[in-house]
Amino acid sequence: MAQIKKKVTKPAKVETQLPQITFDYNNMMASHIGEEGLRLADFETSKDDYKSAFNYVKMHRGTEWLRWTELPYNQLEKRGEEQSIVSEILETAKQIRKDAEYFVVLGIGGSALGPMAVFQALCNLRHNDLKRAKRGAPKFYVEDNVDPERMNSLFGVIDLKKTVFNVITKSGSTSETMSQFLIIWDILKAEFGDEAKNHIVATTDAEKGNLIKIAKKEGIKTFVVPDGVGGRFSELCPVGLLPAAVLNIDIKKLLKGAAAMDKRCKDADIKTNPALAAALTSYLAMKRGKNVSVMMPYADSLKLIADWYCQLWGESLGKNVTLDGTAVNVGQTPVKALGVTDQHSQIQLYTEGPFDKIITFISVENFRSDIVIPKSAQEYPNVAFLAEHTMGELIKTELLATEYALMKNKRMNATIKLPEVSAYTIGQLLEFFMLETAYAGALLNIDTFNQPGVEEGKNATYALFGRTGYEEKAFEINSAPKKLGAFIV
Ligand code: PA5
Repeated sequence: MAQIKKKVTKPAKVETQLPQITFDYNNMMASHIGEEGLRLADFETSKDDYKSAFNYVKMHRGTEWLRWTELPYNQLEKRGEEQSIVSEILETAKQIRKDAEYFVVLGIGGSALGPMAVFQALCNLRHNDLKRAKRGAPKFYVEDNVDPERMNSLFGVIDLKKTVFNVITKSGSTSETMSQFLIIWDILKAEFGDEAKNHIVATTDAEKGNLIKIAKKEGIKTFVVPDGVGGRFSELCPVGLLPAAVLNIDIKKLLKGAAAMDKRCKDADIKTNPALAAALTSYLAMKRGKNVSVMMPYADSLKLIADWYCQLWGESLGKNVTLDGTAVNVGQTPVKALGVTDQHSQIQLYTEGPFDKIITFISVENFRSDIVIPKSAQEYPNVAFLAEHTMGELIKTELLATEYALMKNKRMNATIKLPEVSAYTIGQLLEFFMLETAYAGALLNIDTFNQPGVEEGKNATYALFGRTGYEEKAFEINSAPKKLGAFIV
C-alpha cells in the first residue's frame, strides 16, 4: 500500500526567551494586606531616598568595596596577553576533575557559604552518594568550622591520595581557615613531600595575609580574591567559580545570569529595577518595625541560598553607626526557613506571632524532575484527592496556600520567582541579592561592606591565643567582668 506522505512545514524560528527571575511584592502592599501594608504614597515620599541610594551604588560601582559589581564582566575578559580568569579556572578545574575523587573547600563565612549554596542549587541533591560516572566530578565537602570531631570525621571518608583541597580566605589570616590549612598542609607534607603542593589550591588576596606568602614559598597554585571584593560578595570570583567549575557547573552561564540581572538594575525606577524595589520595600518595612527577614525557598536545592543570604543581609546591614558618624542600631535579623518543611514548624509563628517580620519566599516554576502521586487508596477521600497530581504541583500549591494564609493574617510577604533552577537563574538570584543589599545599605546610610563586629571576635580570638600585637586586646578582655558562680545553676 502506498504510504501517504505528510507535508512537514518547518516551524518558524522562534527567539528563545531566556528565563528571567521576578520579584513579586503584592503582599507587601496595603491593597492586599490592609493597614499593615505599604502604600504607593510611601514610595512617592521615599523617592528622593531611593533615587539617591541608587545613585550612590551607581557612582561607586567598580570602585572601593563595590568592585564586585564588575565580576560578571571582568572574570570573562582577557587580561592583556593573559587568558581570562574564567579560562584559567576552567583549565585548573579540568585537571582537578581528572586527578581527584574528593574536592574539599577549607573556608568560613563568605569564603564557604557561596560555594555551598551554588553546589546545592546546581548539582544533584545526592551528589556525593552517586557513582563517579553519574557525578562527573569529585565528591564535594566544605569544612567551614573548627569542630575537631568534624575534621577528624573528614579523614574517615576521603582518600588523601585522591584529594585536592581549596583553601579560601580573603584576608589570609582568619584563625579558623588558617588552622585548618596548617593541619592539612602538615599532613600533606608528611604524606607526599614535595608533591604536597599538587593537592592544594589557595584562593586569597594577592598580597595581604600569610596564606599568599606560604603559597608562594611552597609553590602552591593560587587564585586571587580581587581588591574591593569582600567575603560575602565574592561568590562570582575564584572563591565561588573554582569550586563550581570543578563540579562541572557552567560558570559562564552563572556570570551571564548575574550580568543580565545587573543590566536590569540600571535605572532608578522601582517598576523595572527588581533589586531596588526589593531594597525599598524591605527598608520601608524596617522603618515600620519589621526587624526580622525570613528567607524561605520552596525547593531543597535552594536551602543553602537562604544561608548565604542570611550572612549577606545580616553582616552587611547590622551596623551601629551611619556613614556620617551618627549612632544608630539598624539591620534586620535574617532567618532561614525551608518550604514546605518549615510550614510544620515555623509558619504558625509567622502567621499569628508578632508583626515584626517580612517573609520572602523563593519559588521554582519548573522542577528539573517530578513524580506523579499514584492513584491508589481511592476509598480514603482524605488522601484520594492527592492522586495524579505531581509532587511539584503539591509544593507549588502549598506555597500559594501559605502566601494566602499570610496575606489573610496581614503579614508582609514577597516572592522571588525562578522559572527554573539553572546556572543562569542562580547567577541572576545572587546578583539580585547583592544589589538589593547594596541599595538597602545605601538607604540606611551605613557602610554595607565592613564588618567591625566580626573583626572584634577575630581579634579577641587572636588575643586569647596570645598572638603578638594583641596584648592590649588581651588586657581589655582580662579586665572585663568575670562570670559569677551566682548566675550559673
Ligand atoms: O563577609 C565577610 O567579609 C566575612 O564573613 C568573611 O568572609 C569571613 O570572616 C572569612 O574571612 P576570610 O575570607 O578573610 O577568611
